[in-house]
Amino acid sequence: MSTSSSASGEAGGTWAILVAAGSGSRLGSDRPKAFAGLAGRPLLAESLERLDTSEWVDAIVVAAPPGWEEPAILLAEELVASKVAAVVTGGATRAESVRIALAEVPEDALVVLVHDAARPLVDDAVIERLLARLAEGVDGVVPGIAIGDTVKRVERGIVAETIDREALVAVQTPQVFVAERLRAGYSGEVAGATDCASLVERTGGRVAVVAGDPRLVKVTTASDLELVARLVEDEGP
Ligand code: CTP
Ligand code: MG
Repeated sequence: MSTSSSASGEAGGTWAILVAAGSGSRLGSDRPKAFAGLAGRPLLAESLERLDTSEWVDAIVVAAPPGWEEPAILLAEELVASKVAAVVTGGATRAESVRIALAEVPEDALVVLVHDAARPLVDDAVIERLLARLAEGVDGVVPGIAIGDTVKRVERGIVAETIDREALVAVQTPQVFVAERLRAGYSGEVAGATDCASLVERTGGRVAVVAGDPRLVKVTTASDLELVARLVEDEGP
């Protein structure tokens, strides 16, 4: 299903894809993770509202879990999220959900931002950093966080190698791309890709890294949800 509502995206602008179609098996809620409660609202509300009010985002496509398209549309209406151009049914993997949502992005879109609903606390500062770097002439930009722990590659329980962590970053979303480069990344096999940038890299794209945001915590388990709920409550209304 592809449920389109009033599209308000400007031609040629920046389109956001908000992937929210996962089941949240590790969270263990009685509903998909995007509809688990966060500070009294569905988790999806936080990122959707923030992208909708972002000065950098022109239009939004949401990938909803199968059977949860109507609740996603109703949530967008309740939030008066007027930039939501379409709600699509997600696929079996994150990459499939992105691919389905990308098909709703018009050909004349210049930039596509892809964000996980599982990272509720997206803000304009990180989006601005990403877009500024993209404008300098790369194919994609991701937010990265330096790794504090020592990292080792392990084979059958034995350390094979200690990796120089200076060269490593943990990568978050949102990730931004020149639209045609993201489409090229998604034109082939996407199985196994855990982020969009890896597909753009694989198809020859240059992807830059800017400073990520420690508040872009990914909600995976119940304790992550508690942590993010505290961060939201500290912010106040
Ligand atoms: N996602 C998606 N479609 C899928 C799988 C994941 O849109 N088939 C989205 C999730 O909704 C989430 C993001 O991709 O916003 C990152 O995925 P993850 O944190 O792994 O969420 P889930 O797959 O829902 O969780 P789990 O792996 O614990 O089942
Ligand atoms: Mg998953």
